[in-house]
Amino acid sequence: METINIGILGFGVVGAGVAKLLKTKKELLEARIGAQLNLKTIADIDTETDRGVDLGDTALVNDAMQVIDDPDIHIVVELIGGETVAKRFTLKALENGKHVVTANKALLAGHGNELVGTARQNQVDLAFEASCGGCMPIIKSLRESLVANDINAMSAILNVTCNYILTKISQDGSEFEDALKIAQELGFAEAEPSLDVDGHDTAHKLAILNSLAHGMEINLEDIHVEGIRNITPVDIEFAREFGYTIKLLAIGKVRENHVEARVHPTMIAKSNPLSYVDGSMNAIAIDADATGKTMLYGHGAGMMPTASAVLSDIADIARNLIANTTRRVPILGYPEDNIRKIPILPMSELHTRYYLRFEAQDHPGVLSRISGILGDNKISIKSVHQKGRQTNGKVPVVMITHMAKEEWVQTALAKISATDSVVGAPVVIRIEEDEQA
Ligand code: HSE
Repeated sequence: METINIGILGFGVVGAGVAKLLKTKKELLEARIGAQLNLKTIADIDTETDRGVDLGDTALVNDAMQVIDDPDIHIVVELIGGETVAKRFTLKALENGKHVVTANKALLAGHGNELVGTARQNQVDLAFEASCGGCMPIIKSLRESLVANDINAMSAILNVTCNYILTKISQDGSEFEDALKIAQELGFAEAEPSLDVDGHDTAHKLAILNSLAHGMEINLEDIHVEGIRNITPVDIEFAREFGYTIKLLAIGKVRENHVEARVHPTMIAKSNPLSYVDGSMNAIAIDADATGKTMLYGHGAGMMPTASAVLSDIADIARNLIANTTRRVPILGYPEDNIRKIPILPMSELHTRYYLRFEAQDHPGVLSRISGILGDNKISIKSVHQKGRQTNGKVPVVMITHMAKEEWVQTALAKISATDSVVGAPVVIRIEEDEQA
């Protein structure tokens, strides 16, 4: 039986999970793949800490070059994370003719086009199933299973940290900071959580998925990104009253010659299956022309779910190698010559529905002044909700709009904020729902 040698860079949580699967699932993997997957070397700066994995004859070294420069290693698995060292090692491994598997979404979103080019020059594979949505086979679905479909739209919950926090706020009325603290104590959130809670991790994943869905160059810069720091129990409660749940969504949609690409807190109807995706779970809903709507749901992070996705890439490459082929499936789902630059729709051009909450002065005429400014800017109101009088002389006024253009909404809100009718900045949460007659 043929032996495929594997080297891992980074022996953290996911690295340990991959090592564990390669060791404990050896027989199953051999039976399924028809080759031995031999974990030859793991490189990490920490070679002392016990990760609870019986490494047997696998070498644990502190020099990554012992993996990258080893002529016997066929597949390098990059699990270091970040964009500096990981980028250098990944490029070097590709240049050395190694096939690379990575879970590194920041690296792919920021430098994916360059990495794909380097893989092409060196005629090797670059695989990244574990970069988006943990264990969900989303990369394979877009790249292979949905090959005969135009992908019209994707809506996804792709960040465990944010989904856990929003679920917590929603379930027990916690404030954002308290929910974040609990998420950190339980190990769902990083000590430095900004990449997650400010939406950037989700944007990295959307940049990758949009590229696969539409055959476009990876474009992170033009994605509109908002995080969840400003989501309060008050808005979650209002959302509930209107029949909505608030989720941090990654949205990718085809709009004529553009692609919409945005990450922001979004109100979705309770009838939308994504509204039931709670806690540490992730999900993606794909609307494609032949299939109609399909959905994937699963653990978005964690040692073994992520390791499972890494193993699916290793298996694909190993199967190619034993069939004496490589690059059978194009890295971004389209041969590189067919990948185009598709512009992302400027946010000002977006048409959607809006939830608006104002802290209004409790004076006669305030409501008509706000709705007058909205009307002057072509924004039609579907429903209004005004809470009872508060002791501080302010009343929260909540409005749900019909379809409106983002530019009109921002112009109107600036005008409303400049009046003495409201205090502070209005809260704006976009609603993702088909307009009902
Ligand atoms: N920090 C990420 C999350 C890990 O919270 O979803 C998985 O990509």
